[in-house]
Amino acid sequence: MYRTHTCGELRIENVGQTVTLAGWVQKSRKLGGMTFIDLRDRYGITQLVVDAHAAAELVETAGSLGREWVLQVTGEVIERQSKNPKMPTGDIEISLSEIKVLNKANTPPFTIEEESDGGEELRAKYRYLDLRRGPLQRALKIRHQIAHEVRNYLDAQNFLEIETPYLIKSTPEGARDFVVPSRMNPGQFYALPQSPQTFKQLLMVAGYDRYFQIVRCFRDEDLRADRQPEFTQIDCEMSFVEQEDVLNTFEGMMRTLFKNVLNVEIAERIPRMSWYDAMDFYGSDKPDIRFDMKIHEITDLVKGYGFSVFDGVDYIGAINVEGAAGYTRKQIDELTEWVKRPQVGAKGLVYIKLNEDGTIKSSIDKFYTPEQLQAVADRLGVKKGDMMLVLCGAKRKTQNMLGVLRIEMGNRLGLRDPFNFAPLWVVDFPLVEWDDETQRFYAMHHPFTAPKPEHLELFYSDKKEDLEKVCANAYDFVLNGTELGGGSIRIHEAEMQQRMFEVLGISKEDAEYKFGFIINAFKFGAPPHGGLAFGFDRVCSLFGGQETIRDYIAFPKNNQGRDVMIDSPSYIDQEQMDELFLESKAETKE
Ligand code: AMO
Repeated sequence: MYRTHTCGELRIENVGQTVTLAGWVQKSRKLGGMTFIDLRDRYGITQLVVDAHAAAELVETAGSLGREWVLQVTGEVIERQSKNPKMPTGDIEISLSEIKVLNKANTPPFTIEEESDGGEELRAKYRYLDLRRGPLQRALKIRHQIAHEVRNYLDAQNFLEIETPYLIKSTPEGARDFVVPSRMNPGQFYALPQSPQTFKQLLMVAGYDRYFQIVRCFRDEDLRADRQPEFTQIDCEMSFVEQEDVLNTFEGMMRTLFKNVLNVEIAERIPRMSWYDAMDFYGSDKPDIRFDMKIHEITDLVKGYGFSVFDGVDYIGAINVEGAAGYTRKQIDELTEWVKRPQVGAKGLVYIKLNEDGTIKSSIDKFYTPEQLQAVADRLGVKKGDMMLVLCGAKRKTQNMLGVLRIEMGNRLGLRDPFNFAPLWVVDFPLVEWDDETQRFYAMHHPFTAPKPEHLELFYSDKKEDLEKVCANAYDFVLNGTELGGGSIRIHEAEMQQRMFEVLGISKEDAEYKFGFIINAFKFGAPPHGGLAFGFDRVCSLFGGQETIRDYIAFPKNNQGRDVMIDSPSYIDQEQMDELFLESKAETKE
């Protein structure tokens, strides 16, 4: 037996016991002839002590230890002279009688402590060392807890966990596929699933009316803090359900997770907002409702008064930043530069302040009377001491920029406490959206999403304006401005699925080649069904109070999609290329 206890376990009650621990040397130091060693494992840290009068060999070994050496030690639990109330094991220490060095270690390239001195790249290269640190251990622990709670909850609701294949055919979820060449089928490729969407629908056809899977998905898309090329979904599907049933089931799941993992009670009924309201009032399909600061349209109040910038656009909108009338010229200039950055894309920024003395000061004073500006202030419910920020341009684009500005001001005013949780369902998404560049419709969610029954007539219309009005029974679960999950009620009739492909400009032949299997399956008794998928990594990171998912994944990729630890992707041998019938157009390995 390597150990009798872990390094996080011993307390004052254990004083007098002889114990054996195993772990890593966090640090060791000499103090007046005594050697103190902090021994760490994933459960905690225990202080070890070797007395100056101990056996010479023991004193010598204790003095020779380096950081991260692996030890097995035996000794007696004693009460500490100077206790450390910050450590769970801080009342005791182990007076050692034996040290066995199980393995020496090179000096680690960065400090393995709560706050490391190592840069991101270096820590990624030595991920196995970074994973020894407290923050990452807590992140992976919360991930495990959430997975465990999800399985318990869904099992109790009669869901079956069923695996689906990774080597499949392209499923369109809006990103590029990762592909895998097939040696046995020259010139042909598998695609890695962007999600198990079609398989879970086929399971519904097969009668497995409640399915779930905690499953890896693969998408070749530009990476961001909350996006990885391989990520994990809590993927679910149900038969004989309406939207309401799906929302209730997963509201229940999220409530259970909040309660059991964080001991947080969320609202009895999670608020719902239509996609249109989300765009109009928050400039985003994933509104952060922890704070108000809604967007208001003011076009009718300020267009047509001779200010050419406003007179030349379709839409003018504003947000009210409470208490910001004190912003200096310099601060406003800085904010103007901020909105002009390509990431936001505004051409300029107009401010209107309602000073504490009731006077109005704005960057457009020349064009408007104080009464006209007061009317704007009234619409936004502005109080003395507040400042409105105004942007203008094309409607959706401007709302979007106002949405980004709103989040920035929320951050600056400290309104986005990560441990204040404000979940929201966004519902009633448009079914399709038009893309000017390619002159075709794209599915807003995915091509298997059903139009609302009351919009069927519009769905079968040939007019672009009609199709743009079709709403879907689609829904997103949003938490604190992040899209945590999304799903829909699906099409379950072959004919309607074919019509959807037609709307998306996919030819009959192409639809048959790519999706023949599912259209065909729908001809063999497909039940009405619907479902959703949560981004598991995102759930974990938000529960941990972080917006980046990287630390909630044991071995993530960097922003270039590389695993710098194993140095992947990498070139393969010519022999392997030949076997796969591949020739590279890029530079190959020397
Ligand atoms: P969707 O594409 O909305 O839906 O994905 C569901 C959820 O997965 C998470 N997510 C990601 N997380 C990390 N990195 C990524 N690259 C990434 N992409 C998506 C998000 C998102 O809300 N098959 C449908 C679900 C359904 O209709 O049932 C689907 O995949 O949190």
